[in-house]
Amino acid sequence: MNDSPMNKREKACQTFAELSKRGCDFLGSEVAILGGAMSWVSERNLVSAISNAGGFGVIACGAMTPERLEEEIIATQALTDRPFGVNLITMHPKLDQLVDVCIAQNVSHIVLAGGVPTGATIRQVRDGGARAIGFAPALALGKRLVKLGIEALIIEGSEAGGHVGPVSLNVLAQEILPYIKDVPVFVAGGLGRGDAILSYMEMGAAGAQLGTLFAASAESIAHPNFKAAFKRANARDAAVSVQLDERFPVIPVRGLINTASRHFMQHQADTLEKFRKGEIEREAAQLEIEHFWAGALRKAVIEGDVENGSMMAGQSVGMVREIRPVAETITMLVEQAIEALEERESRS
Ligand SMILES: Cc1cc2nc3c(=O)[nH]c(=O)nc-3n(C[C@H](O)[C@H](O)[C@H](O)COP(=O)(O)O)c2cc1C
Repeated sequence: MNDSPMNKREKACQTFAELSKRGCDFLGSEVAILGGAMSWVSERNLVSAISNAGGFGVIACGAMTPERLEEEIIATQALTDRPFGVNLITMHPKLDQLVDVCIAQNVSHIVLAGGVPTGATIRQVRDGGARAIGFAPALALGKRLVKLGIEALIIEGSEAGGHVGPVSLNVLAQEILPYIKDVPVFVAGGLGRGDAILSYMEMGAAGAQLGTLFAASAESIAHPNFKAAFKRANARDAAVSVQLDERFPVIPVRGLINTASRHFMQHQADTLEKFRKGEIEREAAQLEIEHFWAGALRKAVIEGDVENGSMMAGQSVGMVREIRPVAETITMLVEQAIEALEERESRS
């Protein structure tokens, strides 16, 4: 007996709800989609917009002081009654105090980013009553984090915007999703369509984290120039920073190619030349290379200097074609997933 179109739609919605259940239950959201924390971008307006639209917003603490973070959490709570998280960078010198601030303000979820968190930090989060989320750049590290007590993992492929690892989401998903079942695993990096998110959920992912698409949202405080550059860009324009010499490490960051990213190559070459000639010590040369990007993300996001700032963006930037409200983006992603399931029902 053939199903009516309505039955197919209902079945597709039900299947998607079942696939989303674990992620939604863990996050306390309607949709298992996190807004990935983005320094300067993921503040009260965008975070509350994502949570209010049924997703799960995450504040980017970045280099904020504990006092600044507390202010941002309180301001976000004034804009939404729904749960949201805070992303803390593990090498922040005041990490313990930042965790305490989150706990005192009843933040439900803390994402520990920028390195492998210690068991002590994970315990501090959990003992305080918040849920601890970490990043798994490889299966062994994911398993270690689970043993240390992490309650959910994000696997972020090299397609993502910002600081990236070397492995694509396609490969990380195959390496990790079949083997980590004890905690929910969210996928990130290069995602811009609901049917793609669905395919990872069918492999076992609990949901997805997106950054670039949300950075270009109507509610994002990113400068109009920043959003316009996202709208114009193609996937190939979001490239990873290149390291010129293995003695001088460069943290790989994916962003739009611009004047600054081109100057960075020259800056490295000039610094290496000074080092070669003995005009500068090795440590000083490393610092000169690292300092190149200081303040550069703010310059692009807040000041709108898209040529001289850091234009962190994922390869998903090629799927930004309009500046839309967050709710429209989330509805679009859910609809694409459900349509893909409906089409499958039609084929069967
Ligand atoms: C502008 C920008 C800034 C980011 N800043 C951070 C950050 O401060 N901390 C972090 O853990 N991830 C950061 N990310 C990564 C995002 O949280 C998210 O995982 C990533 O954007 C997902 O890939 P996508 O951009 O292709 O959706 C940043 C990404 C972008 C685009």
